[in-house]
Amino acid sequence: MLHSWASLTGPPALPPTWALGHHHARWGFGSEEEVRRIVAGYQEHGLPLDAVHVDIDHYEAHQVFTVDKERFPKLPQLAGELRRSGVRLVSIVDPAVKAEPGVEAYDRGVAADAFVRDAAGRLVRGVVWPGEAVYPDFTDPRARKWWGRLDEERLGEGFAGFWHDMNEPVSFAAFGEATLPRSARHCLEGRGGDHREAHNVYGLAMARAGYEGLRELVPEERPFLFSRSGWAGMQRYGGTWSGDVSTGWPGLKASLSLVLGLGLCGVPYSGPDVGGFDGSPSPELYLRWFQLGSYLPLFRTHAAITAGRREPWEFGEEVLGHARVALVERRRLLPYFVTLAHLARLTGAPYVRPLWWGCPEDRALRDCEDAFLLGDSLLVAPVLESGARARTVRLPPGRWYDTVTGKAYEGPGQALVDAPLSRVPVLARAGTVLPVRGRDGALELEVWAPAKGRTGGGLVIADVGDGWERAEIERYTTRWSGRRVVVEREDGGGEGGGGVPVPVRVRGLVE
Ligand code: GLC
Repeated sequence: MLHSWASLTGPPALPPTWALGHHHARWGFGSEEEVRRIVAGYQEHGLPLDAVHVDIDHYEAHQVFTVDKERFPKLPQLAGELRRSGVRLVSIVDPAVKAEPGVEAYDRGVAADAFVRDAAGRLVRGVVWPGEAVYPDFTDPRARKWWGRLDEERLGEGFAGFWHDMNEPVSFAAFGEATLPRSARHCLEGRGGDHREAHNVYGLAMARAGYEGLRELVPEERPFLFSRSGWAGMQRYGGTWSGDVSTGWPGLKASLSLVLGLGLCGVPYSGPDVGGFDGSPSPELYLRWFQLGSYLPLFRTHAAITAGRREPWEFGEEVLGHARVALVERRRLLPYFVTLAHLARLTGAPYVRPLWWGCPEDRALRDCEDAFLLGDSLLVAPVLESGARARTVRLPPGRWYDTVTGKAYEGPGQALVDAPLSRVPVLARAGTVLPVRGRDGALELEVWAPAKGRTGGGLVIADVGDGWERAEIERYTTRWSGRRVVVEREDGGGEGGGGVPVPVRVRGLVE
């Protein structure tokens, strides 16, 4: 079904590999020094980090495609420094442009006739962060082309990825609809129509403008963008996130439902604001959110300017230690995330799948909303309740191993598993082949023994970097041969680890 949906609406974009790591964002990084302090904090505490996102506060007076030169005087230099330590800089991009002659994006947009007008031909104005603003008509191919080129300024500042926000599109309103008036006119690819028709596709068309612009500006790299608003097909250009999810245990639960639901709607790359957008989570809630986030495609901490801190070291030594474990494990699983990203593109199957994936008739599994499958190999059972140190997990058919204790459970059925503060339960499917990053950073296969008399296997798609090189699918099978578990590459890689071109570690050898 999802395969047909993906062929109708388009295959999901493949994120660059760094975007499958950990991102740290905040509305309110007030200066370059603060960004440096955050990155140094990650480094000093031994916490892997792949990207930092800067919000509207790095703009000059909240105006898109500008930089506050007082507080961010040398962004390209900062971006270069971060890049050398393996951290990418991502920029927020809001669609609304301050309506004021002399503002470059406004003048250029007026010259290109790129903004939404009303039936009388007047520019439609709204109010957003920079004050009175106008809106590009992304349903017009000319406006998209114009907008796409504006990213040149962002690239010049050293940004490697783009976070599209407020693109419902928002116009602040004390009452009524907080968006453009229904009567606003749009090109709608030449057909013409009003905002009632254009509203839902506005974010999608903005994503298209950004994506196509980046394809032209940086043809050798896969674009990275994600967007708050979208529509069927947005996955062709990038992902999405929760928006301003509320800080609290219900917000944590909603984060999982959101990612599961979006995956089933064809948008596989998404995630929440880890820790919640507003207020201050308790250390326990922050940690449980962090642990869940570390198994979701977009793993990003983010919060509002008025919210409490979200850095892992702000919640005490214990949380810091456990957050480090989650980050290190995320990095170890990176080759698996790369494989899942490719599979999503090739087949439409999301990284995060409901437990009934593969057994849709199973009522008990269908009712289960508190755990998920991460690809074929892993079952992740996050802790979504305050105070829980163990939880029940509904198991799909077959044997499942607790990846920390190695204990085997037999499905279908239910198991009570330990869930200490240090980790959330993760189970591996017997027989599976999991690509992981070994100690030296090279690819390794973690194989979980099949149940006796059974076989298993898995697909591995190696990282081909951030360009467009075609990736090869490697198919592995696993089986018992006497007292040994044998791993073979189907297309002739050989036997028993010897012929398999990468190190193999077999786990779950209990009998
Ligand atoms: C919106 C976004 C949020 C961002 C804020 C300021 O609320 O959803 O992520 O931090 O605007 O740009």
